[in-house]
Amino acid sequence: MPDIKKVGVCGLGLMGSGIAQVAASAGYDVVALEAVQAALDKGAAGIKKSLDKFVEKGSLKADEREATLARLTTTTNAEDLRGCDLVIEAIIENMATKRELFAKLDALLAPHSIICSNTSSLAVIEMAAATKRPDRVAGLHFFNPVPIMKLVEVVKTISTSHATIDTLYAFAKKLGKIPILAQDTPGFIVNRLLVPYLLYAIRVYEQGLASKEDIDQGMKLGCGYPMGPLMLLDYVGLDTTYYIAEIMFDEFKDPMFASPPLLKRLVLAGHYGRKSGKGFYDYSTDPPR
Ligand code: 3HC
Repeated sequence: MPDIKKVGVCGLGLMGSGIAQVAASAGYDVVALEAVQAALDKGAAGIKKSLDKFVEKGSLKADEREATLARLTTTTNAEDLRGCDLVIEAIIENMATKRELFAKLDALLAPHSIICSNTSSLAVIEMAAATKRPDRVAGLHFFNPVPIMKLVEVVKTISTSHATIDTLYAFAKKLGKIPILAQDTPGFIVNRLLVPYLLYAIRVYEQGLASKEDIDQGMKLGCGYPMGPLMLLDYVGLDTTYYIAEIMFDEFKDPMFASPPLLKRLVLAGHYGRKSGKGFYDYSTDPPR
């Protein structure tokens, strides 16, 4: 099993910054790559804010926060990923862009290095096919918010070796996460079940079953979920959910994955949820309306 010491993270958005944070917190040297400095600065500020929360709560000491931040370097130059034993890609969900990055990483990294994608729905094997090391390519799917959510889906393509899976299981555990093994099908395990539930919540809301607040209260208090489905849609991002649903519908041709008209219209209106300030709820006030 290759020993992982240095971890690369491509893309320092919400997921990438969470992944970089948990890897640095677990003691790995982390190099985070972004296209532009402004995106690196935004990602690094998010990491600092999250670590600050842990310090405020007393679950992290101030010197541990500093040590974690010291293990993290940021760059706009892909060459700086040379020397990484594992690189996790968390860039835009666009296959052509991902394949280009995978080919570049393949040329750059040592033969033993593993390349993973944090994609939530695209075929990992299509990314692996852009490299000459498909046995050392897998999915490593984290959940939002990464520093809090315990789960990691380890996605085995038809070409991923057992040794790679073993290494990724050990890595996920060292991050303090619990890995589960998923096949390379859209949505893996969690989104395969979660997305139809979220889409159905929109359908019943469209049909006037209940107010959005009551739908959310129902699932929170009746089922013990931390968030109701419409609030969770806003949290995940309506654009993200729409995009995942489109990929799943395209693959399975099952109406269960078809986007309800309201979801499409909210996305067309630019109401992406929390990140845009408006989705099913309005986030200009605290608590959201
Ligand atoms: N960093 C550090 N701490 C954080 C944090 C972060 N990024 N986000 C939340 N927290 C902490 C808060 O500080 C708080 O700590 P405390 O309880 O000690 O005060 C704690 O987490 C709870 O946060 P809040 O009080 O703000 O609010 P909630 O109690 O509602 O918890 C939540 C927030 C953890 C997000 C919870 O609502 C939750 O688990 N929601 C469901 C999330 C979920 O389902 N995620 C999966 C989405 S699907 C996905 O990611 C897959 C992708 O492919 C789409």
